[in-house]
Amino acid sequence: MLTGNVIRLDKTITNNPGKWMRSLVSRTGEPVIRKAVNQAMKIMGRQFVFGRTIKEGLARQAKQPPEHKMMSFDMLGEGARTMKTAERYFELYKAAIDAVGSATKADGADPHDRSSVSIKLSAIHPRYDEVNETRVMVELLPWLKELALKAKFYDIQMTIDAEESDRLDISLRLFEALGSDPDLAGWEGLGLAVQAYQKRAPFVIDWLVHLARENGRKFAVRLVKGAYWDTEIKHAQELGVPDYPVYTRKQATDISYLHAAARMLDAQDAIYPQFATHNAHSIAAITKMAGNKRYEFQKLHGMGTLLYKAAGRVAGKPIRTRTYAPVGLHEDLLPYLVRRLLENGANSSFVNRFMDADVPVEEVAGDPITAIEAAPALRHTLIPTPDKIFGAERMNSKGCNLMDRLDSEPLVAALIERKNHVYEAASIVAGLDVGANPVNITNPANTAEIVGHVREARDEDLDTAAARAEQAQGSWDALGGKARAGILNAMGDALEDNRDLFVDILVREAGKTLGDVIAEIREAVDFCRYYAARAEEHFSAPMVLPGP
Ligand code: FAD
Ligand code: 2OP
Repeated sequence: MLTGNVIRLDKTITNNPGKWMRSLVSRTGEPVIRKAVNQAMKIMGRQFVFGRTIKEGLARQAKQPPEHKMMSFDMLGEGARTMKTAERYFELYKAAIDAVGSATKADGADPHDRSSVSIKLSAIHPRYDEVNETRVMVELLPWLKELALKAKFYDIQMTIDAEESDRLDISLRLFEALGSDPDLAGWEGLGLAVQAYQKRAPFVIDWLVHLARENGRKFAVRLVKGAYWDTEIKHAQELGVPDYPVYTRKQATDISYLHAAARMLDAQDAIYPQFATHNAHSIAAITKMAGNKRYEFQKLHGMGTLLYKAAGRVAGKPIRTRTYAPVGLHEDLLPYLVRRLLENGANSSFVNRFMDADVPVEEVAGDPITAIEAAPALRHTLIPTPDKIFGAERMNSKGCNLMDRLDSEPLVAALIERKNHVYEAASIVAGLDVGANPVNITNPANTAEIVGHVREARDEDLDTAAARAEQAQGSWDALGGKARAGILNAMGDALEDNRDLFVDILVREAGKTLGDVIAEIREAVDFCRYYAARAEEHFSAPMVLPGP
């Protein structure tokens, strides 16, 4: 039906574009596409969101049958851009913990049998990232501790969701602070989500086990595969880092999931394992691995109901599951809904393949180890590493991930070393340093700091430069595309090799931020390489240019 509509629209566009544009506005004057998107949001919201407020969510929970009652309420909202927004989410979390804590007191003595809350730290601080560690520890940590103390008071779990991989390090710093805080001792409800698609997953599990044992604590650990895969791939390509933080084959993530699950199940003294999945193979493998150990499965509201029902039939008893129940208003739904849409729509995901009658059961629930052994390579052959995304034509310019200390520390060290360096710059004409008398260049962030001196070009320098360029034009042209490309490429490499020098100058002379400066240098490097490729393509040999 959708295809039919699209074809009809296409014909209207070609035959009568004006009519097509008018047809996009309905009789109410509202553009049809906007109306359709709003309607789609409403439908998806109903499918995946449990309630508009925590009160509404708890009222709905009260009506669930016992096997569906255990929930983890999540107040929708993430990526706060201002402190004002962050404060709003913080207040919502506090109210949610009070509401869930009070409502679930009667549900059982064991906190792991009761409903809980999930929180996203990017909602409660606009600078929740590695480069703002000091602010995070001074401003976010006290808020987080306040929420944790509240959850401890009600003896319910509070799980910190896993977000983008760049936030993993800072999330572990915060978790370590809470996990070793004597005020939170004796509470087993502190929880963390760990993403198995991240190559660091097994080390994170080991680190959590160690932290728990060192402090005589037990943590609730929710193992997920990870909901930001597409973002991670794109982000690493944009950053120009050597490799991805996540696996590129779906089966590698499935195997990592099972490997991490085994590590968690082996540490019952330190970890209460929670397995969040809607994949029949993962459920079956974990059920077999876990035997009589204490653990739970988790599912998202609006997904997995039939699957867990079927798993319960196989097991001969209902499967112990907790449902992640997002609560929130229309304006906070979008990122969550987009992730659900990607997850349900991806042709690699279990929920998508499971609904496809053409895919045999053996394939849908196939063993990931067998599948990866049969694959032509461990890495996905259609997903090149971030440095090779432009194929044979050109290398991606080298980036630096400021959120990754291992990557950024050499740059930071170079900047510290250059802190007091005073640059001498002149206009270079015909290979010579020329120009007017030197003038001081100061740092716009601190005008008392002289960054360097510059000799600006004079009128006569411009005349010489133009004359020399005119003289050189013939021999430059005669070089041909390939040789000129070589010069451009060498220029790009020289810019890249001297990155630290240019970063220092751009930051101190222009007051630019590190992130902007790195992007600017990379763009300059890529320009050189891109036009070198164009020079080779268009100016290496004569080309026929067809007329109109
Ligand atoms: P499957 O279909 O088996 O796996 C799909 C997953 O495989 C994708 O989501 C992705 O992680 C991975 N994948 C897909 N393609 C590739 C590829 N080419 N290479 C490598 N890996 C690939 N996610 C978070 O990020 N943070 C959270 O805090 C979080 N909390 C959750 C809580 C609950 C209760 C649940 C149920 C889910 C939560 N999720 C969270 C979402 C979760 O990450 C996804 O639902 C999950 O990845 C889907 O896995 P699956 O086993 O259900 O499905
Ligand atoms: C997400 O927000 C469920 O935490 C997971 O996508």
